[in-house]
Amino acid sequence: MNFRHLSFVGAVMAFAVIVLWLGQNLAVGAEVPVPKDFSYGEKNPLGAVPFSHKFHVTEKKLACPDCHTKIFQMKKMADPAQMKMAKLNEGESCGKCHEGTKAFATKDAKSCNRCHRKK
Ligand code: HEC
Ligand code: HEC
Ligand code: HEC
Repeated sequence: MNFRHLSFVGAVMAFAVIVLWLGQNLAVGAEVPVPKDFSYGEKNPLGAVPFSHKFHVTEKKLACPDCHTKIFQMKKMADPAQMKMAKLNEGESCGKCHEGTKAFATKDAKSCNRCHRKK
């Protein structure tokens, strides 16, 4: 081992440390925490509608890009006009999945109370 060899090994090691550090920190930085459950239509006489990220993501194994941002923005009530029963029944918003095949249908009279929950 002469001096040139040593500095080469040193440079390789420094490079490896930087790559490892960047890898770990970028991965951590990219993680967006899964939001807490929330509800829509608290004043709806049919009952408020809970939306659970935990259920859709953890239990149903949906990925963030299945909904964000092609169906929903990452902000509650980002577009109130989309959060209307007529839109859902046209296959927009929640109705992109809740159409009877991917998930229970919004139009099915037997399914109303799976979303609208009376306390
Ligand atoms: C996939 C969940 C889901 C299902 C199933 C569902 N709804 Fe809704 N509904 C919503 C959401 C979300 C809203 C918007 C929040 C609110 O106003 O309650 C809404 C709103 C409403 C409203 C308020 C007025 C409007 O037009 O937006 C009525 C009335 C309503 N739903 C009736 C029904 C009836 C009747 C059924 C069954 C035939 C049903 N919903 C099934 C999610 C659902
Ligand atoms: C089944 C669909 C769906 C999936 C999958 C999903 N989200 Fe969401 N997310 C929503 C809906 C619906 C909203 C509220 C949008 C609205 O009301 O306009 C929302 C809102 C959010 C918000 C804003 C919450 C607030 O309080 O304003 C964040 C942050 C978010 N999602 C992160 C994620 C992340 C991270 C993942 C993946 C781990 C994920 N979401 C997966 C449907 C989904
Ligand atoms: C990317 C697809 C997708 C979207 C978008 C989506 N859901 Fe779901 N949701 C599912 C699936 C899959 C299930 C489980 C299917 C079943 O049981 O028929 C489910 C189940 C549910 C349940 C039942 C949970 C339980 O405890 O049994 C509720 C309530 C619900 N969704 C509400 C909503 C609301 C409100 C929205 C819109 C804000 C929405 N979902 C948007 C896929 C979706």
